[in-house]
Amino acid sequence: MNRKLIAGNWKMNGLRADLQTVRDVCAAIKGEKTAPETLLCVPATLLVAASATADGSALRIGGQTCHSRQSGAFTGDVSAQMLQDAGASYVIAGHSERRTFHGETDEIVAAQAASAIASGLVPIICVGETPGERTSGETLQVIERQLTGSLAGLEAASAFVIAYEPLWAIGTGKVATPEQIAEVHDHVRGFLANRFGAAGNAARILYGGSLNPGNAAEILAISNVDGGLIGGASLKAADFLAIYTTACALEG
Ligand code: PGA
Repeated sequence: MNRKLIAGNWKMNGLRADLQTVRDVCAAIKGEKTAPETLLCVPATLLVAASATADGSALRIGGQTCHSRQSGAFTGDVSAQMLQDAGASYVIAGHSERRTFHGETDEIVAAQAASAIASGLVPIICVGETPGERTSGETLQVIERQLTGSLAGLEAASAFVIAYEPLWAIGTGKVATPEQIAEVHDHVRGFLANRFGAAGNAARILYGGSLNPGNAAEILAISNVDGGLIGGASLKAADFLAIYTTACALEG
C-alpha cells in the first residue's frame, strides 16, 4: 500500500490572512511516516509566506501550475524553478480548470511535468472526463489518452502523482460512486504498470472532485486510491483536517 497523500488545492482563493489556516493545519498534523503526507497547493502569491509558516512542520507546500520553461519572456507566468525557490515541493499540472480556461493540452502538461521534475518538484498530473464523455461511455479511453499524452517522455513513475478528477464532480457536490472511482483508478494503475513495470505500483493515484469530511472514509478506502486532491474542503482547516484524520485511521 502506498503512503497516502492528502493534498489541498486552494485554487484562486487565499490572502495573507488565510495563513492562519496553514498554521492550524501545521499544528494538527503528525510527521510520522505512518501518517499520510499532507500538502497545500496555495496561490503563487502566498507560496513564500506559506512555506515559511510550514517550516519545521510536516506540511508540504505546492504550486498550482507552472510554465514549461524555467525562465524567459513569458509575462505573467511562473516557472517550476521559481516555485521551488519559493518553497514548493509539489505542483499541480493539467488541472481541468487549466485545461479548460487556459487551453493546456496533454503536450503542454507533459512539458510542465518534465520541467517540474527537472526543478526537483513532484507534479500532480490531473486527468478526468467531461460529463458528456462519461455519458457516452468514453471515460476509460479519455483517461488513457490523457495519460499517454501527459506522461509522454517521463521516465520514472516515482517522480509524479496522478489525480483522477471527473470534471462533473469538481466543485459540484456530485461525487463519483465508489464503483466509478474504482474502475478508473484500477485502469490508471494498469496503465502505469504497463508503462513503468513494477514501479508503476508505487505511483500514487489521488481522487479529486467534491471530496469532503462526509465521504472521505468511503472514498479513501477504495483500492488504488492513494489519497485525495481537495478543493473546496481544503479552504477550512477543520474540514481539511477531518479528511486528514480519516486518512490517518486508514493508514494506521
Ligand atoms: P473540489 O475541487 O474538491 O472543490 O471539487 C477539487 C479540485 O478541483 O482539485
